[in-house]
Amino acid sequence: MNTLQQTTPACLHHLRVVSANPDGLMKFYERMLDLKAVPSAKSGDVVMTGPSRAIIVSVQEDGNAPYFAYSVSDALALGQLAERLTVRAVPFERIEDPLFPGGAIIFSDPQGRHFVFGVAARIEGQGAPARLQHTVFQTTELERVTRFFVNKVGFTISDEVVDTDGSVMVVFLRSDDEHHTLAFFRGSRNEWDHHCYETNEWNDIRDWGDRFAAAEVPIFFGPGRHGPGNNLFFMVTDPDGNRLEFSAELQRVTADAEPGVWPQCERTLNSWGRAWVRS
Ligand SMILES: [Fe+2]
Repeated sequence: MNTLQQTTPACLHHLRVVSANPDGLMKFYERMLDLKAVPSAKSGDVVMTGPSRAIIVSVQEDGNAPYFAYSVSDALALGQLAERLTVRAVPFERIEDPLFPGGAIIFSDPQGRHFVFGVAARIEGQGAPARLQHTVFQTTELERVTRFFVNKVGFTISDEVVDTDGSVMVVFLRSDDEHHTLAFFRGSRNEWDHHCYETNEWNDIRDWGDRFAAAEVPIFFGPGRHGPGNNLFFMVTDPDGNRLEFSAELQRVTADAEPGVWPQCERTLNSWGRAWVRS
């Protein structure tokens, strides 16, 4: 096998978010996520960093597209990944990314989402524990994007959620030892579903919940425990409607583990109670 997990483990490092109201978005992430704006050579974008998390906020205009940036350990690993993409006929380009000073590459999935891979750089900052950990999308072409990320990029299927008619509804993909760093839900839209911050323990979930309560940002899903990944979670939204998840106890998975299969039901998505089922 030649998977990311085995050869070039990759973890979600930062996001580039495009906003029509970047000031409002930056205020939210500064106040709620302890992110601070740092100087960036790239004009127009604002780079915000905190402890083990970062976003690049970009104003909504022609030429600015969101992307999702994963880090690998060093330049050698990035070279191996670039070689794999070349062999598998995935076009990619070099990109200047302010948080990947060691160089980075960018490519698109079959539906036009942009993914960046670069050399890990430690992100410093003071604040509550919440490491940027995974991102999830809703897709109208689940089989196509799954094939791309597994066969071309090297992600591994950790778990699938399957409907009674045999249709796969959700695919959880890993690129290192954590249960998922990327996932796709089948749905009627192609949209960003959520991104997730992994905390250290259940008490952190409580503290984050209290912080959002004090700011009158209501939880819209959870708290609960997901079946696939077995993680505790809740979800809130930022001022643009982007969904944020806070998680603890995410399962770790060995490279030789067989993909798991879960039934499509509320209990799979939240064993504690009601679930948000995408449609
Ligand atoms: Fe999630």
